[in-house]
Amino acid sequence: MNHIGIIGAMDEEVNIMKERMEDVIITKKASMEFYKGKLSGKDIVVVRSGIGKVNAAVCAQILVDEYQVEGIINTGVAGSLRNEINIGDIVLSKDTVQHDMDATGFGYEPGVIPRMDTSTFIADTLLLKTAREVCEEVNKDINVFVGRIVSGDQFISERGKKESLVKLFDGYCTEMEGAAIAQAAYLNNIPFLIIRAISDKADNSAEMDYSEFEMKAIEHTVKLLHELVTRL
Ligand code: ADE
Repeated sequence: MNHIGIIGAMDEEVNIMKERMEDVIITKKASMEFYKGKLSGKDIVVVRSGIGKVNAAVCAQILVDEYQVEGIINTGVAGSLRNEINIGDIVLSKDTVQHDMDATGFGYEPGVIPRMDTSTFIADTLLLKTAREVCEEVNKDINVFVGRIVSGDQFISERGKKESLVKLFDGYCTEMEGAAIAQAAYLNNIPFLIIRAISDKADNSAEMDYSEFEMKAIEHTVKLLHELVTRL
């Protein structure tokens, strides 16, 4: 894979990657700046999408239409949904679900997108395998988990809500873009992977922890992401 799109929701999540790129050309579309250039000899496009599922989906579609990317990686932070997944740990997406998709009033299960053939978007096997190898060889000191990432337009900071995400969706971590990017990738038939580092525990301490640990978590994703791109 030589043409990879990398999406982060916030500047903090993509700035270090942008700084490491060479031969950069910046183009603006839909109020987003697309940084096209090289990283370790690979053609990549790095972009800050903005927060939330709509921004993320628009961004992913532009990467496909305007930059013809062969795969999309979404990087950033997330709230942990499990006791054993701690701040700084990494979660790689096995698959993704949108936890705020709710047509239960129409008889659908929570998270099910009416009239689509699937609502669970499965990450690419090669991207996932390579990311795991990088974690085992390079990121040895960082714990890594592979599991379901659940996304919604909500910052989760309440224990009851957190517990419902585990019960209903069996999520490993929660954030606000991954499943939208996954759905856009699915619709366009291109591979994707979501890489998230834990910034908080998605409970009543989430807001405080987030501010304290965001940058530490981002450092962990950058280390993994750079080596992953190099190996693809
Ligand atoms: N991103 C980081 N932490 C999060 C949380 N607790 N909920 C939603 N998105 C997040």
